[in-house]
Amino acid sequence: MDINAISTSLGPRFEVVAGDTAKALAALALPPGARVLDVGTGSGHNAIFLAARGFDVVTGEPADDRSMYAGREWAENARKAGVRERIRFESFDASAMPFESEAFDAVFLFGMLHHAPEERRPAVMSEALRVVKQAGAVVVCEPGAEVLQMVRADDPGHPDAANPGEYVIAGQAREQRLTGSWMEIYLFRKPDA
Ligand SMILES: C[S@@+](CC[C@H](N)C(=O)[O-])C[C@H]1O[C@@H](n2cnc3c(N)ncnc32)[C@H](O)[C@@H]1O
Repeated sequence: MDINAISTSLGPRFEVVAGDTAKALAALALPPGARVLDVGTGSGHNAIFLAARGFDVVTGEPADDRSMYAGREWAENARKAGVRERIRFESFDASAMPFESEAFDAVFLFGMLHHAPEERRPAVMSEALRVVKQAGAVVVCEPGAEVLQMVRADDPGHPDAANPGEYVIAGQAREQRLTGSWMEIYLFRKPDA
């Protein structure tokens, strides 16, 4: 199924996620079949888009997250999109990831970082940089002002967007910033060995 057909099946929110992550992918030029980690599964839209683009995707969220943003039928959505077999789900907390160092070509946190408690965000960013390969990238997408306003119509207590650069140790990665249609996109490139 191509991206347009998946958008028709999953709806406009998928289309926006796909558009913003496509912008990050254009800047990264990942090899075909690259192994990628999607942190914060939610509805699975970002994982589904990455799988539809031909990547080998691992995704996860904490097993004990009872918020309205977790446990949102990602597998059913992935089945509808025809990519269920290309996504592996594993429960984990992003501040202590159960993966080996340098296991992934790229790590994506789409709409996730601001949901982690402030005191755990440095560990989340440091874990994302640990599990990505040398010369790989961590992509963090955080909501812009307009989308935050929309989200708060349903969830008035929704946290502010995070600025991921505040949680990265200087010299650990080179930061580049792009603007998506809903999200601010931050790319952190890990230096080569
Ligand atoms: C708004 S949803 C993300 C949307 C999702 N990326 C998508 O494309 O549909 C936020 C996600 O972050 C996850 N999350 C919150 N705290 C987390 C943590 N400490 N570790 C991993 N995931 C976390 C939630 O469980 C939820 O899946």
